[in-house]
Amino acid sequence: MLEHQAHRVMALTEWEERWQNNRIGFHQPAVHTMLKTHLEEVVSGRTGVRFFFPLCGKAVDMKWLADLGHLVVGVEFSEKGIREFFEENNLSYTEEPVPSIPGARLFKNSEKNIFLYRCDLFSVSSSVAGQFGAIWDRGSLVAINPKDRERYAGLIVSLMAVDCRYLLDTLLYDPEKYGGPPFLVPDAQVQSLFGSCCDVKHLQSVDALTDRTRAWGLDSLTENVHLITLKDAGAQTQPR
Ligand SMILES: C[S@@+](CC[C@H](N)C(=O)[O-])C[C@H]1O[C@@H](n2cnc3c(N)ncnc32)[C@H](O)[C@@H]1O
Repeated sequence: MLEHQAHRVMALTEWEERWQNNRIGFHQPAVHTMLKTHLEEVVSGRTGVRFFFPLCGKAVDMKWLADLGHLVVGVEFSEKGIREFFEENNLSYTEEPVPSIPGARLFKNSEKNIFLYRCDLFSVSSSVAGQFGAIWDRGSLVAINPKDRERYAGLIVSLMAVDCRYLLDTLLYDPEKYGGPPFLVPDAQVQSLFGSCCDVKHLQSVDALTDRTRAWGLDSLTENVHLITLKDAGAQTQPR
């Protein structure tokens, strides 16, 4: 199943072109249902959690979490996407270069605690962005080129604080009918990417077929949500 999309490559310039032409059908105007449904499981009684959005686009989920008192860090290649996020949510922002990442810029609203890096995700590391207590991965692992998944998983794990709760949204469909993106990510691959160092819990599966995805040629589309935590994280956070 995976071999159909193994060599599919979407260049960063193609993503930028989509933003420039407003071909951003992935953007949802409302907070994502899966995030709302599983927020308690992710936050797990904590306040002021540092949330990471790996490929953030202009997801309104970021504003929603910030309004709930959490801190949000996102990474997005498209400057247009980042500016639209702040402008469409009526948030002021400042911008500055990121000395440790050539060409990158940090757009931020410090009152709301929203920090968005404009750069390639793969140029970010924990020494730049720190580690996170939570990650919301919607439209991220499924948007990364399939050949880069191991590298992506390694980066994400390096950004997980010991108590991190990583909510991952994946899609399952017949790759002979549609080439992506979004790319399909079978549950077995989620396990092979993260299972050696993390516990992976399947939280929910829903039928995600819509008129938009039917138009891609699909007659079946399943959305799966997983909660990923570092192995033995509980033991490591116990008082000694
Ligand atoms: C499918 S969209 C999802 C956006 C967002 N997570 C959402 O749910 O609306 C993927 C986004 O990732 C950005 N992107 C793709 N590859 C990237 C990379 N390597 N580094 C940073 N941004 C990237 C694209 O510009 C696009 O906005």
